[in-house]
Amino acid sequence: MSDESKANRRLRSQDWFDNPDHLDLTALYLERFMNYGTTPEELRSGKPIIGIAQSGSDLNPCNRHHLDLAKRIRDGIRDAGGIPIEFPTHPLFENCKRPTAALDRNLAYLGLVEILYGYPLDGVVLTTGCDKTTPSALMAASTVDIPAIVFSGGPMLDGWHDGDLVGSGTVIWRSRRKYAAGEIDREEFLEAALESAPSVGHCNTMGTASTMNAMAEALGMSLTGCAAIPAAYRARGQMAYRTGRRAVELVLQKIRPSDILTRAAFLNAIKVNSAIGGSTNAQPHLMAMAKHAGVELHPDDWQVHGFDIPLLANVQPAGAYLGERFHRAGGVPAIMWELLQAGKLDGNCPTVTGRTMAENLEGRESDDREVIKPYAEPMRERAGFLVLKGNLFDFAIMKMSVVSEDFRRRYLSDPGNEGVFDGKAVVFDGSEDYHKRINDPALEIDERTILVIRGAGPLGWPGSAEVVNMQPPDHLLKRGIMSLPTIGDGRQSGTADSPSILNASPESAAGGGLAWVRSGDTIRIDFNQGRCDMLVDDTEIARRKAEGIPKVPADATPWQMIYRQTVTQLADGATIKGAEKFRGISKTPPRH
Ligand code: FES
Ligand code: MG
Repeated sequence: MSDESKANRRLRSQDWFDNPDHLDLTALYLERFMNYGTTPEELRSGKPIIGIAQSGSDLNPCNRHHLDLAKRIRDGIRDAGGIPIEFPTHPLFENCKRPTAALDRNLAYLGLVEILYGYPLDGVVLTTGCDKTTPSALMAASTVDIPAIVFSGGPMLDGWHDGDLVGSGTVIWRSRRKYAAGEIDREEFLEAALESAPSVGHCNTMGTASTMNAMAEALGMSLTGCAAIPAAYRARGQMAYRTGRRAVELVLQKIRPSDILTRAAFLNAIKVNSAIGGSTNAQPHLMAMAKHAGVELHPDDWQVHGFDIPLLANVQPAGAYLGERFHRAGGVPAIMWELLQAGKLDGNCPTVTGRTMAENLEGRESDDREVIKPYAEPMRERAGFLVLKGNLFDFAIMKMSVVSEDFRRRYLSDPGNEGVFDGKAVVFDGSEDYHKRINDPALEIDERTILVIRGAGPLGWPGSAEVVNMQPPDHLLKRGIMSLPTIGDGRQSGTADSPSILNASPESAAGGGLAWVRSGDTIRIDFNQGRCDMLVDDTEIARRKAEGIPKVPADATPWQMIYRQTVTQLADGATIKGAEKFRGISKTPPRH
């Protein structure tokens, strides 16, 4: 081998383990790995060292089965001639972390960047599942830019209650309304919710977890078909093995995230999100991933590229079925196959398989048309996110795939004024205020009311909370009015079926227009023009500005303080300001 090709083949980890200029340090680097039986010969053999970024733990139950699956990832890495090294990532459990797991996405990102950069790793398998585990991992992979591949944990098996499918999260929102309307009691509420979680895995609806794993696959960052395989299926273990093998090949072939994460790949992902009826959280997360990948993605791209795409996946919350049936119907590749045939995808995008996306999708047509609809006969036309702006905010989205016929009839079809709705604002400062007052008769909430929540964005909460899907007061639920228009600077759960206007940026706590709206104001939502305005004149708005921004809670932890000092708005992905400039840092080895 010539000196040049030797240098070319030299792995990043060899700078630690095989560095003739630093015998003393090399000895130090090597010696402690022996503690668990690894030999110096292995570490100095020039085999790729592949990290397994382990996101599973007792604190992250949605990903916990990765602790077992990692064994098959290791087998794959070994069989392909690599050396696995597993390490934990910061836990991100959506349902349990207070005040919100979203606060920790950037913290997990930071932690993973330091690990991938500062340790002798040549490539990494990113184990993902629960909502933020996927974007935080891909954000870090782009910053460091070592060869990386996503291995999803997969959804739980389908949940059943009383002969009906019950899906994660969605059953909670639906039961909450039934309970308030007096249709079910406490016991039945709890039973239905608990039965929605019958096995290991992440949420089995098309919530944020399934969505973000679908996004990873749509971006080309996981093996074909990886996202949707249920956690408990044997195919999940086999996918673990293949992913481990492929991670080693990625290192040998020098394929990095920056080779795959292009603007074309992100536009593909936006379109797939519309077609699966994906989570509104895909918007900040894809923006964040694009930012760290150095890809220009504009907030309007959601409207320009995503809005016209129809809903093809008949999966809750936009449809009827859950993860198992979606997987058996062909999963993400079958959805992408439809989009590709319709000329909506860029099939030339490179992927971690080493083939193009179009090559990956060959022969992936669905044979279950109940669950995955043909492009020409969708569940719903124009199912992407509507992007809105106005004097209340510069940017917000509305997920059109969950806007029900009943809602369209009530709010979008006033004769002579179709698509324009004027409502009276009732404003809440945070969710405690909402829960305290929603049933207060003095608010006079009726079907012409628009519920507004603020103080729920990245700065206000802090972290940005999933609270915009506010349910109407009990007296309206009892009359069968299941949703009102809602607006907020927070987010909502990907499992919610609420037609909310959310992710509003800038948020109230940053001095956005929502800070100046008052209960009783008329808000006009013009769905045709994509506008949302309070009909309040400028002198009155100026007067209210003098009253100051509505108060938000003080920092409760050191990280909350740092987060608030550094975070951008949801429109821009709520990333850490300035962190994008560190892209590709693995090119230069860290100092000894
Ligand atoms: Fe973890 Fe839904 S709560 S995936
Ligand atoms: Mg969520």
